[in-house]
Amino acid sequence: HGEEIAVNPVAGRIGAEISGISLTGSLDSNAVSFIHEALLRHKVVFFRNQHHLDDREQEAFAKLLGRPAAHPTVPVREGSDYILELNSDHGNGRANSWHTDVTFLAAYPKFSVLRGVVIPEAGGDTVWANTAAAYEGLPASLQKLADQLWAVHTNAYDYAAERRDFTEEALKHHNEVFSSTVYETEHPVVHIHPETGERHLLLGHFVKRFVGLSTADSQQIFSILQRHVTQIENTVRWRWKAGDVAIWDNRATQHYAVNDYGNASRVVRRITIDGDIPTGLDG
Ligand code: SIN
Repeated sequence: HGEEIAVNPVAGRIGAEISGISLTGSLDSNAVSFIHEALLRHKVVFFRNQHHLDDREQEAFAKLLGRPAAHPTVPVREGSDYILELNSDHGNGRANSWHTDVTFLAAYPKFSVLRGVVIPEAGGDTVWANTAAAYEGLPASLQKLADQLWAVHTNAYDYAAERRDFTEEALKHHNEVFSSTVYETEHPVVHIHPETGERHLLLGHFVKRFVGLSTADSQQIFSILQRHVTQIENTVRWRWKAGDVAIWDNRATQHYAVNDYGNASRVVRRITIDGDIPTGLDG
């Protein structure tokens, strides 16, 4: 016999904890549909006590949600096919800025599956924001502005910004593992979710500027729109324990890893699932 399956919202506009499901590669299709629906509805779902997962089982489970894709510039963790390890001791888990994963690719991931491996005693929470609520909350005039904009997303921008707080050792590791390939792509700022039909703001730290606007104008407009995404009411904050899993709809959210744990270690492992090229309002 199993524990009853339950979904309990963690915040008012985004995030729910699912209990009563043990994540494995052999979950039946009903359980997978249940998780998928909860994910579309709540945008990020959390599971406690998934200590049985190792890298291989995390991959096997992730495959039930779609086709996993290795990160385009960071090598996968040894012994795995798709796992990106974010390890604070290597300096690559501390990108404390708001983003949607890998938006510098034309077809960026639709889901991310993140597993807590080493969690600090205090700190190291992750915060997610609901980008549909952000769009919905915009006054009509700003919606109209956003509707017309396209943004240039690139990975070059992100890594340059990140390097500032690196220790020498972390920088050395960073330079060894990150390939220098620069990706750049244009996305509509307002995209229509292919599964829910909801409109979302698609921004985050990979945005370099808006198409047809100067960097200076882009920065001002970016901060106006981005402020609506990260408004506290649109967010949920998760206090990790080792063995937790968070799965988010990367087409409907941004997230932020809070860098408040000093020299403590924090290790999380992520698998992303292939997504589509986003559709804007003009198709
Ligand atoms: C990520 O950016 O995908 C990981 C977030 C985290 O480390 O909490």
